[in-house]
Order: sequence, then C-alpha cells, then structure tokens
Amino acid sequence: MEFKGSPRLLIVSDLDHTMVEHGDHDNKSLLRFGALWQSEFNHDSLLVYSTGRSPKMFADLRREVPLLTAGIAILSCGTEIFYGDTMTKDHGWIDIISKGWNRAAVEEVAEEMNLKYQCDSEQRPHKVSFHVRKEESVHTMPTLLAKLLEKGLDIKLIYSGGLDLDVLPRAAGKGQALRYLLQKLKAEGRVPQQTLVCGDSGNDQELFSVDNVCGVIVANAKDELLQWHADQVGDKSHIFVATENCAAGIIEAMKHFGLEPNVSPRDRTVPLSVHDKLVPKADAGAAAREVVEYLLLTEQWLRGDISASEEVFRRLKFGLAKDSSRVCAWGTIDSPHKEIENLQAQYGSQRGKVFHMWADRVRSMKLSDDSWLVRFDKWERSGETMSTPVFECLIADWSNCSVILSFFHYQRLEYTNGSM
Ligand code: GLC
Ligand code: MG
Repeated sequence: MEFKGSPRLLIVSDLDHTMVEHGDHDNKSLLRFGALWQSEFNHDSLLVYSTGRSPKMFADLRREVPLLTAGIAILSCGTEIFYGDTMTKDHGWIDIISKGWNRAAVEEVAEEMNLKYQCDSEQRPHKVSFHVRKEESVHTMPTLLAKLLEKGLDIKLIYSGGLDLDVLPRAAGKGQALRYLLQKLKAEGRVPQQTLVCGDSGNDQELFSVDNVCGVIVANAKDELLQWHADQVGDKSHIFVATENCAAGIIEAMKHFGLEPNVSPRDRTVPLSVHDKLVPKADAGAAAREVVEYLLLTEQWLRGDISASEEVFRRLKFGLAKDSSRVCAWGTIDSPHKEIENLQAQYGSQRGKVFHMWADRVRSMKLSDDSWLVRFDKWERSGETMSTPVFECLIADWSNCSVILSFFHYQRLEYTNGSM
C-alpha cells in the first residue's frame, strides 16, 4: 500500500529510458535509485510511475528489471491510474476522461488515413496508439488533428520517441493525471512537501508544466522533449537537464534540487556497517536502512565486491542476533545465523555473474522505543531469474549499538519471473 501521510517527497517518474535504462544489463542506476528510495524515502514519501505502457506491458517490465513497487502507477499515458500493491483502479478518473471521448470516431479517421496501429495490448479504452515515422509525422499529425477536430472530438495527440503517436481524450495525459492526483492528495490533507517529475520523451512534457513541481529531463532525453525545453521562454529554473542518463540523472537531480538524502547506499565505498552508527536513531527510516544495507552487504560479499577480510565478515554477522530463528510458513525452523556462517565459504562465488540482491516494499511498524517489526520482499537476481520470498524481521536493541535483525518469519510467496 502506498504511504498514507503527507509525502515528504513525491517522485513521479516515467519508466522507459527514464527510470529504466534499457541498454544497462546490470541495471546499475536502477538498483542505485532503488536502494536510496527504500532506505531513505519509502517510509515517508511516495513513488509514482507514469508511463505510456499498458497494464500488460507494465507487468512485462516488472518481470524484466529490478523495479521497485510504486505506491501509484499511472499507466497508458495518463489514462489509467492504479493504487497500491493491489493495483486498485481509479474509476473516478475514468469518469472524468470519458466525457466526450469517442474511440470509434478516432478509429474511423485512422482507417481513412491508413495509419499503422501499435500492438493490441497498447490499444486501451482511452488511448489509441500508432507508429508514425519521424519524417511522416510532420504531415500526418496536423492532418490527423484537423480531421479529428472536424468531427468535434475533444482529443489531444502526443508524439514520443520519434515513433509513437497516441490519441487521448484532451482531459487525459500524464500532466492532467498528475494534476488530478495532486488535487486528490490535497483534498485528503496530504499535500507533498516537494514533487520531482522525471522524463525523457514527448509524453512526459506535460509533467513539467504542472504547478509547484521541479523536474528532471534525463541526459539521454529524446529530441522532441529537448526541443520543447529549448523553446520555453522565461524562468526554467524548476527544470534540470541532467548530465547523467536515466535513474542516475534522477539521483543527480535530487542533488541539484537539494532533495536529501541523495547518496545511495550502493555508492558508499566503505562496507556498509552498523558500526558506523554508534548511536543509531530508532525510527522507521533507520529500520528500513538496516534491511537495505544488510542485503547489500550480502550481495557485495557474494560478488566479491568487498574485501574478504575477517573484519568485513564480522560486520556481516554483527547485525544478526545469534539466537535468531526463522519460522517458515510451511513449519520448519532454521537459523539465519548458520546461513551466514555458510556464507563465509561462498565469498566471491557470484563474481562476474549477473547477481543482485535488493529490498522492495520495506514496511516498518514500531513495537516499542527500541524495536521495530519490518516486513520486506528480499529480491534476488541470478542471471535471467528473479525471485523473492517475503521476510519479516525484528530490529531491536539500538541502544547497545548492536542493531539486531532477528528473522522470525519467512514466507515463501514464491515469485520467479512473474509466476506467483
Ligand atoms: C509506451 C506505450 C505506447 C505509447 C508510448 C508513448 O511505449 O507502450 O503505446 O505510444 O509509450 O506514450
Ligand atoms: Mg520514456
């Protein structure tokens, strides 16, 4: 479920070529952003994806790359809004954008002009999508627009990536969907302290014109968005054009706009360690940080990215309660401590391989002044396979500087590349 208070930070990000760098097979910057978000923001902020993808293609992407679960997903180019883990659809939004929309009339014109449809999954109730080459778009777009307006249709055309043409109700689109969401949050008394929008192509343009947002155009942005930015007159200081690509550009923008903290745990060279936190602050954020850092340290150990010294291994073991036990959903009890002992011999076993571990949906509940119950999905990617069990652990004893992770419940809601 998405964070229910007033978000300290609201990030609204496009996915393809913004959050997700398709050429980066190691998903380095996506994992950097994920670790930063889970450890520092997930407990009091809200992550929203805003993508042109349909629900099907959104699900496809989630099976392919280490994408965090967002609190809200705005799909199909701002024509469908879904909330929380359960992806509950916003029907109020559908009612708003349905007024005056006539899909059949759009299709009629498209046939008359012999336009090339995108695949079936990308045709949605309030989105008709085509492929139009850049050279042709100069002629096709004004002609299509004129014909649709002639029919009295209240629509808009959006051209992205030098190929994709979407016809949407004029009341829809990424910008309108965000305005709707912000109004909704306001009505609930949950105005975000700060909002950062992130994009790379034509369908993201509207996001940058929403009131009170700052925005980042990632370095790898498409011509149409860069051209739009160049054409804007007046103060553009709320838009930052990054020098880095995709999610790395988002982190760069967080630094630019002073949105803190903005150093990912994955960018710290010193092995992450509970030793660093002599007086750990017991709050929901600190509990989440422990989980993220613990998984990251395990990943680095197995990949051999950190030194194989006794000291590093001690750090790995340090946070884990000696007597911690794990009660599995199917009734067996095992010892995470023993598992960690076994890790010693596995140092570097994943070196040079595609291997990552990360936490998603980290949620903490305060039990007492120095203890938190944390639930999270522990993801592991090995080659092409991604899988996750769900964990619960108790984090306690902050005062002693021995932050203790005591895994006591382990539920294998097995998920391997899409199968639940
Ligand atoms: C995504 C969608 C596609 C759309 C494009 C631009 O790629 O799958 O249908 O045209 O975004 O909005
Ligand atoms: Mg994009």
